[in-house]
Order: sequence, then C-alpha cells, then structure tokens
Amino acid sequence: MKTVVTSSIKTASSFIKSGELVGMPTETVYGLGANVFDEDAVKKIFEVKKRPADNPLIVHVSTYEQIEQLVNRITPNAEKIIKNFFPGPITIVLKKNEVISNFVTAGLDTIAVRMPNLEITKNFIDACGVPVAAPSANISGSPSPTSWQHVYDDLNGKISCILKGPKCKVGIESTVVDCTSSIPVILRPGSVSVDDLRTIFPKVKISPLSQNVRVKSPGMKYKHYSPKAKVILVENSEEALKRVSNSEKKNFAFIGFEKISSARQSKIVNSPNDYAHKLFSFFRSCDEAGIEIIFCQKIEEEGIGLALMNRLQKAAHS
Ligand code: TXA
Ligand code: MG
Repeated sequence: MKTVVTSSIKTASSFIKSGELVGMPTETVYGLGANVFDEDAVKKIFEVKKRPADNPLIVHVSTYEQIEQLVNRITPNAEKIIKNFFPGPITIVLKKNEVISNFVTAGLDTIAVRMPNLEITKNFIDACGVPVAAPSANISGSPSPTSWQHVYDDLNGKISCILKGPKCKVGIESTVVDCTSSIPVILRPGSVSVDDLRTIFPKVKISPLSQNVRVKSPGMKYKHYSPKAKVILVENSEEALKRVSNSEKKNFAFIGFEKISSARQSKIVNSPNDYAHKLFSFFRSCDEAGIEIIFCQKIEEEGIGLALMNRLQKAAHS
C-alpha cells in the first residue's frame, strides 16, 4: 500500500470517509485514526498496530454534539471536565451508547472521548464529519510518535495516509479520567495534572498505576513506551556514570537536567514539560543509533512529573 503523506485536510479526510486509516497530529502524540462508525476501519487499526483486541481506543471529537453521538449520558463530572479542560490533553471515560461497536471499546460498556487542542486536528475532524477513533500511531509496544516522521517510520506502507502536522507540543499521552462514578478516578496520568483536576474535584482519586488498573484502563497493563535499549532510571548523571559498566562505556545515552559528555547521545531538558516533549523522540533516536542503555534522570512526581515517571517506569520495567 502506498502511504500518502499530505498537509491537505481535504485529502486526509477523504481517506477516513472511504474507510481507510490516517495518521493524524494532536498536541499530545500522533494518533492512528478511523471513522468510529465504520467497524471494518476500526478493526484495521488493531491489525496495523498489532494491538491486543482487549485494549480499547480513544475517540476524538471536535464538537460537543459529537460527544453526544458516542455516550449514553454526559455526567455532571464529565461536564465539569469539558467546561474546564476541553479542548485539551485529557480524555474522559463515560458509558457508551448502543450505536458504538464493541471493537472500539474492546467489549467494555464505557468509551473514552477526547477533544484535541490543535487547530489542524479540529479542522480534520470537522472535515471527516464523524468522531475519529485513534490510539497512538505506533506499533504496539514502541514509544508513541511525536512527529509525523515517527508515524512514517512505524507505519509507512501499512496505512493510506499521514496528515502532516507540527511536532507534538506535549509529547506524552493524555490524562485519562473515569467519569462514570460519583468521584472521578484518574486512570492514566498526563499533562493535565492531579493538582489541575483537584481545582474542580478536591477528592479526585488516582488509580494505582500498575497491573491492577487492568479492568478500568486495559492499556496500562501492556508493555509500553519502551525503546529497544534497556532503560535505567537514575537520580543524576553521577549515578549513571557509576552504573555504566566497562563494556557499555561507549554505548550509553543520558537524558535529564544535566549533560554527560562521555555519553554517545545526551539530551538536556530544562523543565518537566520540556522533558515530556523530548522523551519519546529521544528514545527513538537512541534506538536508531543502536544505543544499548538509556539512563533517564528521575523527576519529582508533581505536575506533569507524575505522568513522566509513570512512562519512565513502564519503559524501565518492560
Ligand atoms: O493523548 C492521547 O491520549 C493519544 C492521542 C492520539 O489522543 N492517544 C492514546 O491512545 O494515547 P492509546 O490507545 O495509546 O491509549 C488509550 C488509553 C489506553 O490506556 C486505554 O486502555 C484507555 O485509554 N482507554 C480507552 N478506552 C477506555 C475505557 N473505555 N475505559 C478505560 N480506559 C480506556
Ligand atoms: Mg498507545
């Protein structure tokens, strides 16, 4: 299959309308989109990504009316999130309606919905005329794509189209919040932080971010976000240098707030947001260079730091 790489929203949306898949930009990571109402197109997402069938998709909307096309009822908690954080890097989970295929939700009776905050994405969904189901546009298990070139590297020849947009500003996936219960539960941390959510829900809960969230957020149980290189979390550059063995001395990388000049690749970040913005792209460039070990500097679990540590720990333990 030839993959058309285009900046034309008209061209990209025509592929969605004809039941094909499109790699699409968002502010978090690139998504692999299909018409949510086209079951065959949705099935293709799972085939192309090699995604386990029990891992449900996020559905992307550009209007409030499109949310109503997907769910049973917009709960008061969901209304609050929509009012305060949509469009943005946050996903709400609500009870789905009967129209939505079980393939989208992996058999769950709930559906994840997000309204991205990027002009080109909004215009693209508008042009598609339907909500767009889209997981991250990587092969399952590899780091999420934060540029259209990453999507091309993973999926060239396997999908019909990539809509070219900017590099992703946020760089890690959205915060996922279950809005079906009286107190909302954060199922996956993201750049909308716990503190941000506490401004509207003082009692918001955080699901234990490990194996036991598998029922509520099936995606969290899979090997995720992991480069081929071994990832080791360290306090600082000194610890990295201590831990690198003689044999690995020439083939390690470091990302953090400091620089290691003896590392084959070293990426300095200047803030937690900058760290999130650069992380997955750094993982990919290390893999391209055949790096064996990537040392990542730990960061405080505050603000976006909680989400970053969640992704770093997953990368380190897989
Ligand atoms: O930022 C993002 O969220 C990106 C962009 C493309 O929007 N998308 C993304 O999708 O990260 P994906 O498929 O890689 O991750 C979706 C997450 C998974 O952890 C999945 O289990 C969870 O959302 N999820 C989807 N539907 C759910 C549901 N009904 N209940 C609980 N969790 C759900
Ligand atoms: Mg993903």
